[in-house]
Amino acid sequence: MMRFWFCCALLLGLLTQSGLAQPEAPTLLPVPAELRWGRGRLSLSTPLKLQLDNSPDPAVAAAVGRLLARLYGSAKPPATGPVLQIRYGRAGHAEQFDEERYSLRVTPIGVSIDAPTSLGVLRALATLEQLPIREKRHPYLPEVDVQDRPRFAWRGLLIDAARHFLPVPVIKRNLDGMAAVKLNVLHWHLSDDQGFRVESKLLPRLSQVGGANGFYTQAEVRDVIEYAAARGIRVVPEFDVPGHATSWITAYPRLASNDSAYAVPTRWGVLNVALDPTRETTYSLLDSLFTEMTALFPDPYFHIGGDENDGRQWRRNPRISAFMRAKGFVKADGKTVDKHQLQTYFNRRVLTMLQKNGKIMVGWDEILGPDLPKEAVVQSWRGKKGLTDAAQLGHPVLLSNGYYLDLNYSAASHYAADPLPPDTPLTAAEQKLVLGGEAAMWAEFADSTILDSRIWPRAGAVAERLWSPQAAAQDVADLYRRLPAVSSELETLGLRHRRGPEQLLTQMAGSGSTAPLRTLAEVLEPVKEYKRHFQGFKYTTQTPLNRLVDVAPAESEVARRFGTLVDSVVAGGTGVAGRPGRLPQQLVALRAQLLRWQANDPGLQKLLALNPALREYGPLSTQLAAVSRILLERLTQLQTGQPPTVAWRSAARATLNAAEAPAGQAELAIVRAARKLAGV
Ligand code: ACM
Repeated sequence: MMRFWFCCALLLGLLTQSGLAQPEAPTLLPVPAELRWGRGRLSLSTPLKLQLDNSPDPAVAAAVGRLLARLYGSAKPPATGPVLQIRYGRAGHAEQFDEERYSLRVTPIGVSIDAPTSLGVLRALATLEQLPIREKRHPYLPEVDVQDRPRFAWRGLLIDAARHFLPVPVIKRNLDGMAAVKLNVLHWHLSDDQGFRVESKLLPRLSQVGGANGFYTQAEVRDVIEYAAARGIRVVPEFDVPGHATSWITAYPRLASNDSAYAVPTRWGVLNVALDPTRETTYSLLDSLFTEMTALFPDPYFHIGGDENDGRQWRRNPRISAFMRAKGFVKADGKTVDKHQLQTYFNRRVLTMLQKNGKIMVGWDEILGPDLPKEAVVQSWRGKKGLTDAAQLGHPVLLSNGYYLDLNYSAASHYAADPLPPDTPLTAAEQKLVLGGEAAMWAEFADSTILDSRIWPRAGAVAERLWSPQAAAQDVADLYRRLPAVSSELETLGLRHRRGPEQLLTQMAGSGSTAPLRTLAEVLEPVKEYKRHFQGFKYTTQTPLNRLVDVAPAESEVARRFGTLVDSVVAGGTGVAGRPGRLPQQLVALRAQLLRWQANDPGLQKLLALNPALREYGPLSTQLAAVSRILLERLTQLQTGQPPTVAWRSAARATLNAAEAPAGQAELAIVRAARKLAGV
């Protein structure tokens, strides 16, 4: 008995290792389904030794190799030391929605991962990568028991490589980012009005003409698919038809719905140019292309777009209108032609081609209609209703509404969108049709320098929404606490969401310091939604994306933190006065921040004046300084207990109204919080 207690005490001593508790707030993202922290730790000073018997999937050893290299540099695995034991049943197939669940245990003597398939192991390794506590000189893994599984099988990221061509390394590093947060579908938007980005050997003009400024060879596509598969990620291509296809028509004018001569457009916007759905030659060309592309892309799903064709070209062409009448594609009045029925006819023909090649068709929610075969998957982007309508009609569905990263909304807003919210009107059977969702990164305003910063870290919020149990993913403040850690992790993986904008700043600053520009840029955000198209600056595909608006984060972390500080001060109330102990830190921090912003303006104005491309941002720096001055006065009022005068309030209101005006398609992200603090 003594011996037993002695052993227990020894074990307990090992586990608690001098009684140090785990960090109270670990930074795992997405939050695992079940998680129990122990009190022990596993030192990372000695590299882990891999124990992997019987590994039918080479992706596992490769992923472990990458992880260990990142943890320890390129050190060779030691002969002895703590063990990383991995056991799994069989090779997993992402494209078959194979099992991704796993268990991961870290104890003071080693790490063990168990999973039914290799996909689960890859997900476990992504969790393990987020575990190390990088305490100075003594990095360690905290003791933990994780039992994890995804909420949704389809957790995607759409990357639009059509609007701006994105070279293979850009796609690959974003695949690394996806794997880090357990996203598992790359939706590769490969064609649009402005570009056709894949080599076709049967229809070479598609990429020669549509991809004149960049396309992927078939070898490169295979390389990306292999790279993705090694990370448990599927690649679903999108070839957008019948709208968004001007590049196709430019290459093959016989596809056009009118007699116009087309060039690959350099302008943005919904062009409402559409393929002619009445000619058999259109279908024979599509059949050739889709036969070639369905062989190139092994995933069973194949996206045909189908969005944003208002049918104006079809209605205006007497021959196409006559076709619609002859087929009975008319509205309830019996006379007006119905473009939707013609598009459904087109969709059905495309669906037959895809089915012949063993594929399941996916399309945007415009493809939905009573005659659409149930097998077609509907991706809802225009509203939540698209998802419920489609599921109620028996279609598998995906949610993208709420997940459009290019609208420059906050991570919190993406987090709030849920494919199956608690108040979903769907029945249990209909809910089973909800495959998941996809973050969408449309790239009118993103080239290869800027793209990563428009995706990350906000896509992490979508990743968590789609992976974690609903109940475990509700705390927005905690999401924001974890996102910076993910952001740092992603930089070490090779993402350039921090370095890309920094590179632009360096170019702008020339021989001067980047600091004053950065101070302004980091409290700016690009104007929201698609307002950037409508603010006096004409963008084309040729416009360089190298202005301060391109450096400005989609969601300003500095402004968000400022807002949090303001909230805590305001929650403290005007009772700050006379109670100096009440919120000293927040007040000191706020005052320091405001003084920095105020002091930034004079030097920055000199720099802006020297560079014509930067001058347009002068007013924003002026406004930032003016708002700071008002808020410094407000802090003094709060601290001295002096109520603001009517004149002060009116001047403050005028300053804050002026500060709302965008410049250079960017806006100050601190105005709402400033209003709160000023109380106007
Ligand atoms: C879309 O955003 N047009 C699908």
